[in-house]
Amino acid sequence: MNKSYYIETYGCQMNVADSELVSGLLTREGYTESKDIHDADAIFVNTCAIREHAEDKVHSRLGYYQQIKKKNPGMIIGVLGCMAQNLKDDILESKPYVDIVLGPDSYRRLSEMIRERNGESDHLVDTKLSRFEVYDDMFPSRSEGINAWISIMRGCDKFCTFCIVPFTRGRERSRSLNSIVDEAAKAVADGFVEITLLGQNVNSYNYDGLGFHELLEAVAQFPGLKRIRYTSPHPQDMTQEVLDVMAKHENICNYVHLPLQAGNDRVLKQMNRTYTKKEFITLANKIRKTLPGAGISTDIIVGFPGENEAEFQETIEVMEMIKFDSAFTFKYSSRPGTKAAEFEDHVSESEKQNRLERVIETQKQHTLLRNKELVGRTELVLVEKESKRSSDQWAGRTDSNKLVIFDKGDVQVKDLVPVRIKDARGISLHGEIIQIQEMEGA
Ligand code: SAH
Ligand code: SF4
Ligand code: F3S
Repeated sequence: MNKSYYIETYGCQMNVADSELVSGLLTREGYTESKDIHDADAIFVNTCAIREHAEDKVHSRLGYYQQIKKKNPGMIIGVLGCMAQNLKDDILESKPYVDIVLGPDSYRRLSEMIRERNGESDHLVDTKLSRFEVYDDMFPSRSEGINAWISIMRGCDKFCTFCIVPFTRGRERSRSLNSIVDEAAKAVADGFVEITLLGQNVNSYNYDGLGFHELLEAVAQFPGLKRIRYTSPHPQDMTQEVLDVMAKHENICNYVHLPLQAGNDRVLKQMNRTYTKKEFITLANKIRKTLPGAGISTDIIVGFPGENEAEFQETIEVMEMIKFDSAFTFKYSSRPGTKAAEFEDHVSESEKQNRLERVIETQKQHTLLRNKELVGRTELVLVEKESKRSSDQWAGRTDSNKLVIFDKGDVQVKDLVPVRIKDARGISLHGEIIQIQEMEGA
């Protein structure tokens, strides 16, 4: 009989890519994807443990799946990903409705577990982390037609003191350059025009002595790839070679995500971020010099243990100096098992909230300012989808990763088109397609 599965994904793009791997595996097992959770023979949830809020969400979803399972007791519920380790004991003790728990390095065992579970064995759990698993030979089943996520490395050895990832995903390991190029080739053959290379520290990629810039160079020469993106790099490993390869190849997007986290040196040291405020600013300037017009985004944590008001002000100060194009901003969330969770001087919730509001406000101004710099210019935009606001308009992104809305004209999704930017409102830009001759004459 044809069985169906439903999969929900939380967390970062690595999880999105992992869910696609799992979908590929389930497809090979003869499962089809169901769009209706009530209809599925199996529900999988790919979980995230980065902040408490992420975990809370998964807990509430588990309660919901339990309700669904009451009506369909034969259904399999599987918890995958970064919360697996943490949830293991909880599930064995108090969540009998969960059938399978698999950590990020154990997905190969999924088919075997589904078969065993159908034979009504007990809970099936595997949260062991591997020093080697990179799922080199497993082809993902991708759902969307523009961008293909490609994992190039797994795990993280940086051990920032606030972060759970080194514990949930284990040691850093890179995938062979050839297998990445093969996967890019397959993605292009399947009609994808953009790839995003993924890893918790993409730029510490190292396979057989080949570094990230060599990998970028190899995929950039690939015919048919209109755009190459990558995320997330770590400031420590952001070499001039990487920037030079980006400058050399038009299809590598002019965009860098450069997570700052905090602006004060004492806090950065306590976070184990391995760079100083000055080094970070120097690096941002180097990026802007090598890659004029590059978009730079960041991640910021407010209220790290012990961070005082003056230290927080330095985060704002760095923001003012660099004027990021966009930022993901977070209140520090204590993660049991990490070093920072044992630090004293936890900042109060109200103070964290207050600081968060101030970084959000600062960023809003900078986003608008950076977007306004583009008004009057012509940007190459990759047409991605219909605009949410109007069926007569497309939405697409510039090389520097900004969203642009424009009238459809006679272009199609996946086309790379010149768009003159006319207006910057909120976080999006508005423009109009211009004719090629017009652009050449401009
Ligand atoms: N590997 C990437 C980030 C991965 S997690 C890097 O090094 O930049 C994405 C972001 O979540 C981090 O950059 C950080 O800003 C945030 N984050 C991680 N742990 C957190 C915690 N305990 N509390 C709040 N934010 C956190
Ligand atoms: Fe977490 Fe730091 Fe590794 Fe990023 S580099 S995943 S923040 S430990
Ligand atoms: Fe979350 Fe794991 Fe990604 S903790 S952010 S899903 S690596």
